[in-house]
Amino acid sequence: MAFSTRRVVVTGLGLVTPLGIGVQQSWSRLIAAECGVVSLKDIPTVNGLPGFDTLPSQVGAVVKRQGGYAAGGFNSTEWLDRGDENRMALFTQYAIAAAKMAIKDAEWDNTTEDQKEHTGVCLGSGIGSLDDMAATTLSYAESGYRKMSPMFVPKILINMAAGHLTMKFGYMGPNHAASTACTTGAHSIGDAMRFIQYGDADVMVAGGSEACIHPMAIAGFSKAKSLATRYNDTPKEASRPFDRDRDGFVIGEGAGVVVLEEYEHARKRGVHIYAELKGYGLSGDAHHMTAPPENGTGAAMAMRRALKVARLTPADVGYVNAHATSTYQGDIAENRAIKIVFDGYHDSLAVSSTKGAVGHLLGAAGAVEAIFTILAIKNNIMPPTLNLHNLDDSGEFTLNYVPRKAQEKILNAALTNSFGFGGTNASLCFAKVQ
Ligand SMILES: *[C@@H]1O[C@H](CO)[C@@H](O)[C@H](O)[C@H]1NC(C)=O
Ligand SMILES: *[C@@H]1O[C@H](CO)[C@@H](O)[C@H](O)[C@H]1NC(C)=O
Ligand SMILES: *[C@@H]1O[C@H](CO)[C@@H](O)[C@H](O)[C@H]1NC(C)=O
Ligand SMILES: *[C@@H]1O[C@H](CO)[C@@H](O)[C@H](O)[C@H]1NC(C)=O
Repeated sequence: MAFSTRRVVVTGLGLVTPLGIGVQQSWSRLIAAECGVVSLKDIPTVNGLPGFDTLPSQVGAVVKRQGGYAAGGFNSTEWLDRGDENRMALFTQYAIAAAKMAIKDAEWDNTTEDQKEHTGVCLGSGIGSLDDMAATTLSYAESGYRKMSPMFVPKILINMAAGHLTMKFGYMGPNHAASTACTTGAHSIGDAMRFIQYGDADVMVAGGSEACIHPMAIAGFSKAKSLATRYNDTPKEASRPFDRDRDGFVIGEGAGVVVLEEYEHARKRGVHIYAELKGYGLSGDAHHMTAPPENGTGAAMAMRRALKVARLTPADVGYVNAHATSTYQGDIAENRAIKIVFDGYHDSLAVSSTKGAVGHLLGAAGAVEAIFTILAIKNNIMPPTLNLHNLDDSGEFTLNYVPRKAQEKILNAALTNSFGFGGTNASLCFAKVQ
């Protein structure tokens, strides 16, 4: 297999998470072991639909909406232009905000026509705007064609975050949007890396966004038996990856966007480089709609392929940011896969899941967690797995899972895993630039 010689580095980061707006707020609170999960019980129902308080799971990792940036909240007027709020679904608004942060961070916000031609976007979402679909269905049932909004279709299209971004910045490189459930964010960043390696672009703005904390989503995931239900009165304890008492994931929302750039291109500009994106591995495990195979074959394959592309071995990798969503089966399967891939290196490896703090951001998870992994490498700090008090009785959880408190460690390389419904798995490998 021949790999491209064009190297890809990360030069900009942007985040909208349940812990805050921007990298600074989200990362400092993550490292301080703070948690963004809250009760949904008192959130009023929308469009007269049965509310969150009628559902088995009543917790969510919500992006704060009050107070604006200074108070850690998302206020669209701080990030968008006049009228955008009516044109853009919430997932698109989060994506645009995170992308603006990343582009500014990369000092790529004042580009020439030629530079714009060589800049592309890979920005997806897992679910998109459930809110617009539900509200429009209800209004259509009641009032028919008369009340149909011309904004309906442009608001619900998954690729509209990418579309709006290119309109704002004039980028004319690849304009792409993956929608691969909870692997969306990782696929977007990995595919963007390939676009740069292949020469389709020199700079790519890539990531994922999700904003579907809606009763329909919680009802659906509850029926699929995916969500945490035992912690409705203690929301901060609900997301507990690898812990004995985990009982499902906590739905989250937000966006993560990176600026990826060809290495020489970034060096010539003299811009700050966070890390190198060295490897990307994909697999499908052709097994079941929602459950992974118990031995985690698909996950192992994705990690091995990422290492192979990166030309690294398990000995080089000090940290895995696990997908681990806090479901019983999923965490076991991933742990088995990690142990197989890192056979012989269990003592030098640490694994944590940041979903204890931010919940499961679905289509945004892979991108947000990629950014946490990049920051772990840059700062030599591994974020903690919240609520991990007791490893389960199986005796299989024998690694260092960074329980409850961040740990310092010199990290040269790290993996971040993403797995999605439909059996789609991806792993990204980031490393310090050598
Ligand atoms: C958002 O910002 C605008 C403009 O500064 C302000 O008028 C509005 O009250 C803010 N909204 C919230 C929810 O903080
Ligand atoms: C934007 O780029 C142009 C052309 O390179 C330059 O003349 C101008 O000073 C830049 N503006 C800012 C605000 O950096
Ligand atoms: C890939 O991820 C999804 C979700 O966990 C799952 O459906 C699929 O089978 C996974 N493979 C694994 C974890 O081996
Ligand atoms: C893992 O499980 C799958 C599905 O049950 C099976 O096809 C495969 O052979 C197993 N792999 C190993 C290494 O046990």
